[in-house]
Amino acid sequence: MKFHVFSPTDTKKIAQGLISQILRDMHKKTVVIGLVGELGSGKTTFVKSLAKTLGVRSTITSPTFLIQKKYKINKNNFSSFIHMDAYRIKKISELSGVGFEKEISNDENIVVIEWADLIKKAINKKAIWVFFTHGQKKNERYITIKK
Ligand SMILES: Nc1ncnc2c1ncn2[C@@H]1O[C@H](COP(=O)(O)OP(=O)(O)OP(=O)(O)O)[C@@H](O)[C@H]1O
Ligand SMILES: [Mg+2]
Repeated sequence: MKFHVFSPTDTKKIAQGLISQILRDMHKKTVVIGLVGELGSGKTTFVKSLAKTLGVRSTITSPTFLIQKKYKINKNNFSSFIHMDAYRIKKISELSGVGFEKEISNDENIVVIEWADLIKKAINKKAIWVFFTHGQKKNERYITIKK
């Protein structure tokens, strides 16, 4: 599904829509969402909206140095929202240090990964992929969701 958006607010609405769908489907399995797109294309903006929609109260800050941040949530069967940023990961093996394999196989987690293409091999086939590209105008973006 491809969306053409014209503001951060539009991007946030797409994120809300995705969460609504996920909660509606209510499948009992880990939700992994891989975000792919160049610098400033809107990945973190999208994550903030996902988090807010799921009831995360604390401010989402970029986990760049920590690789991942975990937030408590209480929505349907989900109890944690995990925000990862793979930008600085050089080797897939670094992921075991943050317990990545365990987190992406826990069915109570919603795991969202910025720069997910960099660790593609470590992400299971059932992940939802979201691609961001810039448009011609300053606030214009294209968002493609693949499930
Ligand atoms: N349609 C839009 N969607 C999302 N962000 C937009 C849009 N239009 C303008 N922006 C602005 O572009 C910037 C996007 O930054 P954001 O941190 O979300 O990108 P990012 O993809 O996470 O970048 P990085 O790769 O550096 O982490 C923000 O300053 C935001 O306000
Ligand atoms: Mg970002």
